[in-house]
Amino acid sequence: MTLKIAPSILAVWDKTRGDTGEVVLAARNALRAGADWVHVDVMDGHYVPAVTFGTEMVNALQGVGVLDVHLMVESPENVVKSYLQAGADRIVFHPSASDDIGGVLQTIADFGAVGGLALDVDEDVRWLEPWVENIDQTLIKQVLVMTVKAGAGGQTFRGDLLEKVNIVRRLVGPNVTVVVDGGVNAQNARQCAAAGADCLVAGSAVFNAPDVAEAIAGLRAI
Ligand code: DX5
Ligand code: ZN
Repeated sequence: MTLKIAPSILAVWDKTRGDTGEVVLAARNALRAGADWVHVDVMDGHYVPAVTFGTEMVNALQGVGVLDVHLMVESPENVVKSYLQAGADRIVFHPSASDDIGGVLQTIADFGAVGGLALDVDEDVRWLEPWVENIDQTLIKQVLVMTVKAGAGGQTFRGDLLEKVNIVRRLVGPNVTVVVDGGVNAQNARQCAAAGADCLVAGSAVFNAPDVAEAIAGLRAI
């Protein structure tokens, strides 16, 4: 599987102090520069202390390219449908935040989108266990492993979590996308891929670089 690169627009949002127009331009530019998906970090102020954006951002990005939405929200069952209606192509959410994991996954599948789970640094791989038997028949198509604590961009990559990436890869087998998210840069991209990741999310390393195309190529050149 070729390595997918998903720049996180959170870095642009932070840098422009919440300018949706700038975010859309940056996302378009990153895709033109070789990115595969646009990673959209939704934070609700409950599951994580910070608040970023909601469905209005997904709406604004609709048509730009593949939208990979990372829901850091409490009770995703209450909002998942609105993100799908807004144009999300892929959605991951944190299982510890949901009382209806199966229902959320089913809703995503019903919309023809790709669903999966995200594991924060303190969320155990055991969350995956109910799903991994016959995983090809389940609705988990993507697992995102955080390598920083969920809630902010620009944090330092935690190499100790690569082992978890490796465990997840072994648990889910070859047909599920394993995403590494948090502090990813050209220096640690190779380790992430070696641990089993086939998608890298990077905010600061892409959007705070002098040249976005070079930064994306640097992540891919592993
Ligand atoms: C953190 C987010 C990440 C983050 C990545 O809660 O899920 O996607 O924005 O940004 P960098 O690459 O700056 O760590
Ligand atoms: Zn994310």
